[in-house]
Amino acid sequence: MYDFTSVVERDGMGSAKWKEMHEKNPHVPKGIVPFSVADMEFRMAPEIISGLGEYLKDLVMGYTFPTDAYYDAVCGWMKKRHRWDIQREWIVLSDGVVSAFFNAVKSVSEPGEGIIIMPPVYYPFFMAMERNKRRIVSNNLVIDNGRYVVDYDDLEAKARDPRNKALLFCSPHNPVGRVWERDELEKIGKICLENNVVVISDEIHSDLIMPGFSHQVFAQLNDDFAQNTITCTAPSKTFNLAGMATSNTIIQNKKLKEAYVETLMQNIGVSMLNIFGYKTCEIAYTQCENWLHELLIVLNQNRKTVENFIKERIPQIKVFNLEGTYLQWWDCRGLGMDYKALERLLIEDAFLFLDEGHIFGENGKGFERINLAAPEKTLKDGLERFAAALKKKNII
Ligand SMILES: Cc1ncc(COP(=O)(O)O)c(C=O)c1O
Repeated sequence: MYDFTSVVERDGMGSAKWKEMHEKNPHVPKGIVPFSVADMEFRMAPEIISGLGEYLKDLVMGYTFPTDAYYDAVCGWMKKRHRWDIQREWIVLSDGVVSAFFNAVKSVSEPGEGIIIMPPVYYPFFMAMERNKRRIVSNNLVIDNGRYVVDYDDLEAKARDPRNKALLFCSPHNPVGRVWERDELEKIGKICLENNVVVISDEIHSDLIMPGFSHQVFAQLNDDFAQNTITCTAPSKTFNLAGMATSNTIIQNKKLKEAYVETLMQNIGVSMLNIFGYKTCEIAYTQCENWLHELLIVLNQNRKTVENFIKERIPQIKVFNLEGTYLQWWDCRGLGMDYKALERLLIEDAFLFLDEGHIFGENGKGFERINLAAPEKTLKDGLERFAAALKKKNII
């Protein structure tokens, strides 16, 4: 029903991903699509385009707060998709999830105090501490039988240190593609609760789940966890709306919410977002579920296409099973190349633009992350170029 095959030329639209591609290689030929930054190379859901068109007709663009319809849409989505009953009083708006977790980190800690993260992880998690003079406390994920898991002993040791105030948690996990299971979440939550460590749960990828897996909202597991959690959500990954910069942070605990809002007001002084952000989020959450349904089928197909290609043609690379997100994680160490040489080959010879693993932490070195949210044909073309470049250099 929807178009997930057309290539949209995003040069000239200010796309961060396309701009970065041209910066990395100014000689990239026309027709190359990058697979790095986590947004999608798909046309928008038509319901959003027509809904915004309608909205514009009688609009007065004055100072605007979210409407009842907005809050109903957010609460309705959480209930329908995640069985999570939230109240509108728990919602705080922010202009994106990165802003939200930067603010959350500041609201639960003082400069010099520690925040635990689980690398390899979304690189702005590191920046949230570096920019705000908090200490990064790494609880590295470990590979067990080809799957990333949490090192609970290490987490417990770090949580026990009273200087460490929060866990900045990524669920589902970017870049390793894990959808955390209930018992994993329970163990993490228990450790944090027992040690007064607040959980800042970034669940921006929670609607992007592969068949056979299901996302469990961390705060929905039990009341104690709910009282100890700041949950970051947004329609931006699900419906490709990052440019709308609208996200909903959900905080049930009154004290945590007050501290969060106080920090927000100290830093930016207003709590109002862009009028189109509100409306787009409302349309997405009320009218675009069918689009999401088809998107998930396409992403699952792309996942298989890429995984099969690598298995057959570049078996030196190990592809981790994608459980959620549209970001697939490759272990490229079997190619026997230095990670910088691999990046050069990708950029200069294969015109394949991925995200280098080391940006997600030291233990991401030798890995690559590929964004699967693009027309299948463009992914196949990119992989062919990669295989040809490796062959030419006698690496495979
Ligand atoms: C885990 C995670 N959090 C946050 C973001 C970005 O959120 P926003 O664009 O709402 O700031 C991303 C984008 O890739 C992400 O992967």
